[in-house]
Amino acid sequence: MTKIAVVEGDGIGREVVPIARAVIEAVRPDLEFFEVEAGYGLWKRTGNACGEETMADLRSADAVLFGAVTTPPDPGYRSVLLQIRRELDLYANVRPIRGEGVDIVIVRENTEGLYSGIEWMESDRACTVRVVSRRGSERIARYACALAKSRRHLTVGNKANVLKSDCLFVEVCTAEAARAGVPCRTCYIDALALDLLMHPDRYDVVVTTNIFGDILSDAAAYLVGGLGMLPSANIGERHALFEPVHGSAPDIAGRNIANPVAAIRSGAMLLSHLGDAAAAAAVEEAVRRVLGAGIQTRDLGGVAGTREFGAAVLREVGRGKA
Ligand code: NAD
Ligand code: IPM
Ligand code: MN
Repeated sequence: MTKIAVVEGDGIGREVVPIARAVIEAVRPDLEFFEVEAGYGLWKRTGNACGEETMADLRSADAVLFGAVTTPPDPGYRSVLLQIRRELDLYANVRPIRGEGVDIVIVRENTEGLYSGIEWMESDRACTVRVVSRRGSERIARYACALAKSRRHLTVGNKANVLKSDCLFVEVCTAEAARAGVPCRTCYIDALALDLLMHPDRYDVVVTTNIFGDILSDAAAYLVGGLGMLPSANIGERHALFEPVHGSAPDIAGRNIANPVAAIRSGAMLLSHLGDAAAAAAVEEAVRRVLGAGIQTRDLGGVAGTREFGAAVLREVGRGKA
């Protein structure tokens, strides 16, 4: 039996994940789901946001469906998500940006860079180490090149003019692209951020380091209707976790107005990872039809609530099966 761990997390994670799960269940009733608690809410109740037992549960799953967690900017608190990505060694954060005239995949290195976790406080300064290793760069470069090989081309987003660590990243990525026979160019991340928004057609697969990929993907959401639309996959050799790109959105949580598309599409990516391309396509198609029929949440200019949108997608996948 294929086992899916479900982490709702905090804020709107608790609203959008149940919908994504219901949609996955509708197309694949044979999957076994189990709930795992993690996040800031759990930390406030128990003093532990993601303990060893939680990690063992996540490790035991064939895939994880994740909502979002709140991470306060508190020097004493470590992000649950960064812990999970590191401990499950989910090195590739894959973020497709698809919509009218836009088809880009951001492949973000997910275990090192400026999110290395190597940090310390001194009396009058705080330091964070940006780690770019050859091994870390090689595996993300291989992942991105394999993807670009089946698509069109690769852009390496970097800041090698300033950061010596990015000289290594660029060297490894361009060498891997040459080896794989993938057309490749490099681009400074600041210029890339603007050009991607002005000329999305110039981009196909974009590979970059951790924090650049984090920022670039939120900005790229502008091209397809905002953060409520973007799904992602966190992929490792042994584990995989699927989550919206957005966070826990405390400003709108608990009001039935969050857009569940990002979470539902993350569910489609999960299905695709399990090898069920047909089920993934059915979910994507259902979302497309519902949006096309004008059923949309507030962030897209519509009036549908989170649950109403979810119910419409469920009806549509049901119709697809009939
Ligand atoms: P956010 O993504 O939660 O929200 C940014 C803005 O986008 C907010 O105005 C929010 O209302 C809107 N938004 C996000 N998702 C939406 C959706 N599905 N539908 C409609 N509107 C949506 O980012 P933030 O406000 O910077 O961070 C809030 C909290 O989430 C922080 O604690 C942060 O650390 C955390 N966070 C978690 C993750 C994650 O768990 N993957 C990702 C990003 C941020
Ligand atoms: C994301 C989020 C996370 C990140 C935070 C909440 C740790 O912004 O998944 O994009 O920076 O990776
Ligand atoms: Mn982010």
